[in-house]
Amino acid sequence: MPITDVPTISLATSVPRDPDALVVGLAETSEGDVLVGLPDEVAKAINKAFGTDLATVAGRLGGSSKNGRAVVVAGPGGARIVVVGLGPIDVTPEQVRRAVGSAVRLVAGLSAPSRQTVAISLETVEPQVIKGAAEGALLGAYSYRAAADVPGIGQFVLVSANRRPDAKQALDLAVTTAKAVNQAREWVNTPANLLFPETFADAARATARAARVDVEVWDEKALEREGFGGILAVGGGSTRKPRLVKLAYAPRGARFHLAIIGKGITFDAGGLNLKTPDGMYTMKTDMAGAAAVIAAVTAIAELGLRIRVTGWAAMAENLPSGSAYRPSDVLTMYGGKTVENGNSDAEGRLVMADALVKSAEEKPNLVLDVATLTGACMVALGERVAGLMARDDQTADLVLDAAEAAGEQFWQLPIPEDARPKLESKVADLKSTGDKYGGALTAAAFLSEFVPEETPWAHLDIAGPSFNSGAPYDYTPAGGTGSAVRTLIALAHALAN
Ligand code: BES
Ligand code: MN
Ligand code: ZN
Repeated sequence: MPITDVPTISLATSVPRDPDALVVGLAETSEGDVLVGLPDEVAKAINKAFGTDLATVAGRLGGSSKNGRAVVVAGPGGARIVVVGLGPIDVTPEQVRRAVGSAVRLVAGLSAPSRQTVAISLETVEPQVIKGAAEGALLGAYSYRAAADVPGIGQFVLVSANRRPDAKQALDLAVTTAKAVNQAREWVNTPANLLFPETFADAARATARAARVDVEVWDEKALEREGFGGILAVGGGSTRKPRLVKLAYAPRGARFHLAIIGKGITFDAGGLNLKTPDGMYTMKTDMAGAAAVIAAVTAIAELGLRIRVTGWAAMAENLPSGSAYRPSDVLTMYGGKTVENGNSDAEGRLVMADALVKSAEEKPNLVLDVATLTGACMVALGERVAGLMARDDQTADLVLDAAEAAGEQFWQLPIPEDARPKLESKVADLKSTGDKYGGALTAAAFLSEFVPEETPWAHLDIAGPSFNSGAPYDYTPAGGTGSAVRTLIALAHALAN
């Protein structure tokens, strides 16, 4: 489960001598495409060897200024020159993050005699762009069980003319952030026979403690003693018993208390409402919210941000069995509300409800939950955009701004007034499911019932973006993506004093 052989990254004001690969850019301007970051002596050597300039050579190989398009050209002394499209020249941090990610994925997959040194030369100066480039490199270099036949990347050297401390600060922030994202990816990718509530809680404890975060774990007995009826019902069908994990980071002088709650279903078979084979296959990703929360709290503590952050991870495995909870069961949730189970595959909202109620006991200033909650959210927004729901637009905007700064795609969906009436039950305080329409919205309306009305709250549905079941692209690998980690860290950054 630990990630090994992580490449290092450092800043330099000029291209180092003899890198194994040199990444330069090709950007779009009104006067045509221009090369970005190519040192004069390399340009001269290329012109001499090919009789034309690097942009033309790259073009012949299929390269272009299209963002993320990357080709390799043989450079002087056998170095690989990677020409990567940046898109329009007035680059955003996300454009650079994606371009560098593409270039690095290309290099990481090439055979080499030993682990490669990769120089990235893109004329990055602004701290946010430096951060984007560094994150693109470290995120693009990740793959689950990296190919054994190539040595991969040993170190990155990021070339920047910025000698100010803000350059180094941006780099350090990027390193901590990327490490957290890659950790979340690794947990998601770890199959559910190896990562289940007990082992996931152990991993959370080890990771968070190393960052001096206080960790508390409720095992099944403690959950029973305190009446966590949602988590226990969902976890009841598995021999791997459920856990609730609390991570507390409370630095001196912090003025704001942020609570973040993650869905940690280590495998979602659908319970007695069994999923189809295709629908079930990727369901090791159903703990991605909890992975994001644990990774983000750890990173926030490592960064020493002056904000109190409490993370909660509700962990259970949703399997069908003789001890599984049934559709129509009435559950008593933590705090006493009763819920009629409409569908055992709507398990996420039940574990989240318990954790939300628990988290509110500390009266945080803002509650944020992160969950791979509904297929309906994917129907609405596709696989790359996460849903954001809140009861007030101020809270929604706060999170949307953090997502924008982090380079993650979120789109606000409403919690319409007709959602709550769909959850009426004849036998309990409310039912867990509505009708077949607007499933992401009724799920949010359900969760809303478990957050005190006066507490600012936002719900992130990352069902789509948490897992890439297709080919890798930009800095996104196949499998777990680490969705929401960057947004959570950026939000804590924005709220810290
Ligand atoms: N974990 C799923 C949602 C999901 C689907 C995540 C696809 C990632 C990819 C969730 O527990 C679920 O099964 N939701 C149901 C709810 C329904 C039964 C009301 C759904 O979306 O179909
Ligand atoms: Mn489910
Ligand atoms: Zn689920």
